[in-house]
Amino acid sequence: MSAVQSVRRPCDGAVLFPDATYRCFAAVTWSMFAGTRPGRASDRQLLLLGRRGRQNVLATDGTGNTIIQTPWLRHLSPGQFGLADFVQGHNALIDYVKQTFDEQLATYSEDHTRHFLDVCIKEIKKDAADQGLPFNIEQVIATGTDLLLPSLTVTTTALAETVRCLVLHPEVQTKVHLEIDSVVGRGRLPTLDDRPNLPYFEATIREALRRKTAVPLSVAHASTTEATLNGYTLPKGTILLPGLEAFHMNPEVWGDPENFRPERFLDETGKLLPDRTLPFGGGRRECFGKTYARNSLFLFLGGMLQSFTLQQPQSEKPLTLDGLYSKNFTNQVQHITYYCTSANILLHQC
Ligand code: HEM
Repeated sequence: MSAVQSVRRPCDGAVLFPDATYRCFAAVTWSMFAGTRPGRASDRQLLLLGRRGRQNVLATDGTGNTIIQTPWLRHLSPGQFGLADFVQGHNALIDYVKQTFDEQLATYSEDHTRHFLDVCIKEIKKDAADQGLPFNIEQVIATGTDLLLPSLTVTTTALAETVRCLVLHPEVQTKVHLEIDSVVGRGRLPTLDDRPNLPYFEATIREALRRKTAVPLSVAHASTTEATLNGYTLPKGTILLPGLEAFHMNPEVWGDPENFRPERFLDETGKLLPDRTLPFGGGRRECFGKTYARNSLFLFLGGMLQSFTLQQPQSEKPLTLDGLYSKNFTNQVQHITYYCTSANILLHQC
């Protein structure tokens, strides 16, 4: 059964994460990329797209999976080694980006740049005319997919995992509620200007991104010259996988890494300490979507926590902080367990 088919329906009054957030993240990403905000009529399409994205990342492995190590296996049984799931998920995203590209191209005008995609179309036309550097449609489609996939999968999972942490730690949730109530109140939604004034909430998001590292082995890098690391000589071209999760769970760095404790990021006066976490990697190739993802997590969670208390329905199998993970490119609880546990979170109106 594919990840798309196996999703359970939530029980009365409960909301499924990350299902509930695919549409919102797709809408925000698409308004930046293509200036269009998919309307309510696209809800079902975006939900399925999110699930296809999830199917894709569940079939991907940061270390190179069986098929990449032994490509001839794809001829024997592509379904068994995740290739079919990977391709089906990937193609769904590519089709969506292509559809958007075609729609925007049809209404493109040289005189008026509406959004990022228009800038790309302009470059494609210029390159075609100049015969200069090849900036082509395939690159734009790949760029759109590179933006859509992490928005739909990593960010929604990070949000779901933060919800899981809050459900398991009602004392933390209460402190966030009190902080939002005293700084923002209930008369308006939290805005990005509130971020510096909500240090406990900020520390809570930071702690969730540390405790539930979304991309455990980051993205593979390669050494561009011979280098020495911890006494080991790395020849030029060595593949390097930064162990972000290992760093986030290192007792020598954090003391009690297993515990979910936002206070570790605050000084005795409640001010935020410098951030030593690396959920978005580091250096020149640090995550391109870092600011967007951090801002989105703040706004989405802030809006939710302003009005709701997050609880797990009593009928559900109790949540734990560490579910049964499938170690893929991104950390995701295996889909059926995931939807049955962290998924069914009851939103009680305060
Ligand atoms: C909570 C959400 C996210 C997490 C935890 C995350 C994490 C990461 C990590 C660890 C890397 C590798 C960085 C490195 O190589 O050192 C990365 C790269 C990247 N991320 Fe994200 N990401 C998130 C959301 C997003 C979003 C929303 C987008 C796009 C809108 C995005 C786009 C990218 C791109 C394009 C790269 C490759 C950057 C490059 O190689 O120069 N990410 N991300």
